[in-house]
Order: sequence, then C-alpha cells, then structure tokens
Amino acid sequence: MAILVTGGAGYIGSHTVVELQNAGYDVVVMDNLSNANEKVLARVEAITGKKVPFYKADIRNRQELEEIFTKEKIDSVIHFAGLKAVGESVEKPWEYYDNNITGTLTLVDVMRKHNCKNIIFSSSATVYGNPAFIPITEECPKGQCTNPYGWTKSMLEQVLTDIQFADKEWNVVLLRYFNPIGAHKSGTIGENPNGIPNNLMPYITQVAVGRLPKLNVFGNDYDTHDGTGVRDYIHVVDLANGHVKALKKLEPGSGLSIYNLGTGVGYSVLDIVKNFEEANGIKIPYEIQPRRAGDIATCYSSADKAEKELGWKAAYGIREMCEDSWRWQSQNPNGYED
Ligand code: NAD
Ligand code: UD1
Repeated sequence: MAILVTGGAGYIGSHTVVELQNAGYDVVVMDNLSNANEKVLARVEAITGKKVPFYKADIRNRQELEEIFTKEKIDSVIHFAGLKAVGESVEKPWEYYDNNITGTLTLVDVMRKHNCKNIIFSSSATVYGNPAFIPITEECPKGQCTNPYGWTKSMLEQVLTDIQFADKEWNVVLLRYFNPIGAHKSGTIGENPNGIPNNLMPYITQVAVGRLPKLNVFGNDYDTHDGTGVRDYIHVVDLANGHVKALKKLEPGSGLSIYNLGTGVGYSVLDIVKNFEEANGIKIPYEIQPRRAGDIATCYSSADKAEKELGWKAAYGIREMCEDSWRWQSQNPNGYED
C-alpha cells in the first residue's frame, strides 16, 4: 500500500517525500506543476536512491484522480496541493477557492469512492488569526483570517472535521504549520518562489545571492523585544518528519487529530537577519519600512501536544535553518531554472 502525496513536487511536499522514502514508505506523487518544477523529482530520487512514481494531475480533475486511485493501491493521502500566495489570493479569490476548496472536495470524494479514508491536511497557523493567546496551543480558538488563502485553510479544516464526524471510518489529521524555512542538507531541493518572494527567508537569501538589493523590514514599532514581527520558524525537514510521525494518527479509530507543527520559539525579523549573517558570513543590508497590511506582531506555537502524542519535536535550531536555506540558494541561484 502506498501514500499519495498531492503537491509532492512543491517545497514541503518534496521534503516530505524524502523523509517518507527514507522511513521505508511507498510513495506516489501527484502535482499539476502549477508552482513546481518536474526536476525536483529526479533530485528527490538522487537523495533517496528510490524511484518516485509521478502523475502530472490536478486535484480538480476527477478523471485524473480516478486513474491514480485505480492504478495504484493508495491507503492514505498527505494533501499538500494548493495555492498559497496570500497577496495573490486577495487579487484572485475565485481561483483560490476553486483550486483549494473545489480541489479538496473532489479529492475527498474520489478517496471515499475508493474506500481510502485517511488524510493528513496541510493547514496553517493563519487559522488562528490574531491569536487569542501566545504561545498558541491547539485549543486556541480559530480567528478571523485576513485573506482568501487563510479562509480556504480554515474552511477546509471544517469540511474535513464534518466529514469525519459523519463517517467514523475517516481518520483526519490537521497539521497547522508555523513558518517553514531551510532546505535539505544536500542543498539540491528547496523553496523556489515565483517572482519576488513574499516570505522573509527567501527574500533574505535572494538579497544574499545578489538578486535583490536589500531587505525591507515591515515595521519596527510592534510590541516585541526589538519592534519587528516575531514568528515561529521551523526547519522544513523537521516539518517533513512531523508528517511521518503523524501517520500513526491514521490508524483505524484515530478519528480527528489536530497538531501545531512549530518549534515553540519565536524570532524577530532582526533576529533572523543577525542569525543569517552570523551563520553564513554575509551582510544583509536592510531598511525599515511601514508595517505590511494584515501582519500581526507575534505568532509562535506551543509544540507540546505533538511531542506528547506523536513523539515529534523539532530537532534543528535557527542556525541550521539559516545555513541550509543559504546552501540551497547559493547552489541554485535561480532555483530549479538553469
Ligand atoms: P508549494 O506551492 O511549493 O507546493 C504546493 C504544490 O501543490 C505545488 O507543487 C503546486 O504545483 C501544487 N498544486 C497546486 N494546485 C494544485 C492542483 N490543483 N492540483 C495539483 N497540484 C497542485 O507550497 P508549499 O510551501 O510546499 O506548501 C504546501 C502546502 O502547505 C500548501 O497547502 C500550503 O498552503 C501549506 N502551507 C504552507 C506554508 C508555507 O509557509 N510554505 C505554511 C502553512 C501551510
Ligand atoms: C505568511 C503568510 C501566512 C502564512 C505564513 C507561513 C502573509 C500576510 N501571511 O505569514 O498566511 O501562513 O507566511 O508561510 O503573507 N517580513 C519582512 N520583510 C519581508 C518579508 C517579511 O519584514 O520582505 C516580516 C513580516 O512582516 C513578518 C515576518 O517577516 O513579521 C515573517 O513574514 P512571512 O515570512 O511573510 O511570514 P508570516 O507573516 O508569518
């Protein structure tokens, strides 16, 4: 039996495929390559020494999904496929609701027709909105999202919760990621954003590699230790391993499980700049700019529940996150493009 990884050619998906194969699981990848390069699969194969069966397919396309579930013996799905650019989701809400929500509804319908009722879903700390308390535990109430992307995550959590409530054969794990950064130690796979990066670490690495002149720091008047925004950065390999551990919550009768995947530690924008500079010996010029709309001051997790129930805990610290992000970017200045 195999695990179907939707969006498995993407940033988190590709790292998770590596860890799943290393742990001995059979994996099938599907991705429509809307935000990924097919080259990543050969690189994953080079890391693990195992073949990665791949389908170029769209989660909104019932026929393509049917073909995968008919040909392969899939008993669980790790569902990464989705659009994730916050700003773009404000410009193109229909495309986000269609891709993420219609896509997931279609996937889940095909899954149940094939009696595959085990799913791990990529959710986000964004569902907490402006969090009611810090550190954020899984009991923290969900909040108001500030953009359509966030709402797709919040709504899909509810959809999967309701489906599991109605049919107890389903086992559903909702994983709320904090801020994944870093890359595989080989430096051969990593984050490859389209255009100018929105997120902090890819922006810093593109400044470091000379593609961008300086970092814009969005606000230094937050109520934090140095005035800049604080987040819970987590190494993508730790995040990938969190999925491997979460598979045990797909055992029969597990029901619905919700976990934060974070480190429980918050770093400010300037902490990240300083750590990056120290880890890699590269100066990052920056300029303070006004706050970015929709941003919150502080967001970090309590990671206790995942440790207690899954036996999972982040292993990598901020220095390795900075080193590994830079190894990937410096070895691949243009990402997967030649
Ligand atoms: P990514 O864009 O690198 O990966 C998503 C993959 O899904 C891409 O390879 C893309 O081509 C594919 N895809 C998109 N729509 C598809 C469709 N309709 N059919 C098939 N494939 C499709 O993003 P990522 O950073 O690896 O994120 C993976 C998941 O984790 C996403 O659901 C994202 O929303 C969620 N998430 C990411 C972060 C983050 O900071 N990276 C944080 C929280 C949650
Ligand atoms: C972003 C997304 C969120 C998603 C999360 C994890 C937004 C508004 N939110 O949140 O939905 O779940 O990533 O992927 O995009 N910063 C700068 N300069 C930059 C970029 C960022 O100063 O060029 C600052 C931000 O103001 C923030 C911190 O760095 O304080 C982290 O930003 P970012 O990487 O975009 O992550 P989030 O804001 O946590």
